[in-house]
Amino acid sequence: MQKFTVKLIPGDGIGVDVIREAVRVLKTLEKLHGGVQFEFQELEWSCQYYLKTGRMMPEDGLKILADCDSILLGAVGFPGVPDHVSLRELLLPIRVGFDQYVNLRPVKLLKGLSSPIKNEDIDFVVIRENSEGEYCGKGFVEKENTPDETVHQDSIFTRKGTERIIRYAYEYAKNHQLNKVMSATKSNALNYSMVFWDKVFHEVAAEHKEFESAQMHIDALAGYFIMHPDRLQVVVASNLFGDILTDLGSAMLGSIGISPSANLNPEGKYPSMFEPIHGSAPDIAGKGIANPIGTFWAAAMMLDHFKLYDMSGKLMDAVTDVLAAGAIRTPDIGGKSTTTEVTDAVIAAL
Ligand code: NAI
Ligand code: MG
Repeated sequence: MQKFTVKLIPGDGIGVDVIREAVRVLKTLEKLHGGVQFEFQELEWSCQYYLKTGRMMPEDGLKILADCDSILLGAVGFPGVPDHVSLRELLLPIRVGFDQYVNLRPVKLLKGLSSPIKNEDIDFVVIRENSEGEYCGKGFVEKENTPDETVHQDSIFTRKGTERIIRYAYEYAKNHQLNKVMSATKSNALNYSMVFWDKVFHEVAAEHKEFESAQMHIDALAGYFIMHPDRLQVVVASNLFGDILTDLGSAMLGSIGISPSANLNPEGKYPSMFEPIHGSAPDIAGKGIANPIGTFWAAAMMLDHFKLYDMSGKLMDAVTDVLAAGAIRTPDIGGKSTTTEVTDAVIAAL
């Protein structure tokens, strides 16, 4: 019997609903498989927890998480707690503390869904730097509350951080029989950080001559996503650029509720974390209509991470079967079903 410990952080709003449903699906897969056991441990870290305790997670939060095989997260953030608090005191400490320097986001139009853009040949991945760059959290304020108030927000790009994410992009391409890597830059305007990013990209690209390597300024690349998604295979981007591109990518799939993301520590020294890319959606929280598919897909990525490829394939086949049949889907993708009804259908397909 193979055993995996999964720490659950449902978080806030619809995060709670989608994690509950993902657990039902994973328990079904476990039963069907017979040789695999998941041990789920749920943590109540959330904005509610913050209002009670003054912290998003306990002081020794990372220690509590450290011994698990992976973390499955819903979403955190809710009105009443500033977003920078929920992000900076829970998500970012986990990503940075566990050196989850790869944020992997597939942008693939699933069978049965239609895209708001015309070119529906959409199947690529964005590999986003997840540990430094524009989100390093450093900066300072001068002459606060005076007419000369000046705010500095730093971006930190290290050689180690930049090189390893670009190398990972080539590694990913190689492992998935892909041959094109596109780097997102803006070295015309960002004369330190992105000039450096380009330099490292060119160095690593030179070691991978068998690949077609290209770079594009982020603004042009955003347009390219819409016009020529079929020409993309692997896109590598800094933290901020990757964040924006991946929400665009998700919108191209029809709903923000569809897309997953994996925060990976590729060396396996620390647990990796899997989550849907959407937030807690306060506008629909409690209505029971959140699309759970982004979380199912995130769970499938977690199964891939456990090398349970067969199980992951079965889950994604069940999801696409339900979508292709068309009758059962949540309102964000044009249906009338509830979160639970979609899960029931996926379980039935399994
Ligand atoms: P959001 O993703 O929560 O919602 C944006 C829009 O998409 C809303 O209209 C929502 O109803 C809809 N939506 C999102 N997920 C959906 C799903 N699964 N099914 C159906 N519709 C869905 O983003 P927003 O409104 O900017 O943020 C809300 C809160 O979530 C904020 O506190 C924010 O900080 C937090 N947040 C947390 C994230 C995380 O935990 N990784 C990521 C993004 C936002
Ligand atoms: Mg985002």
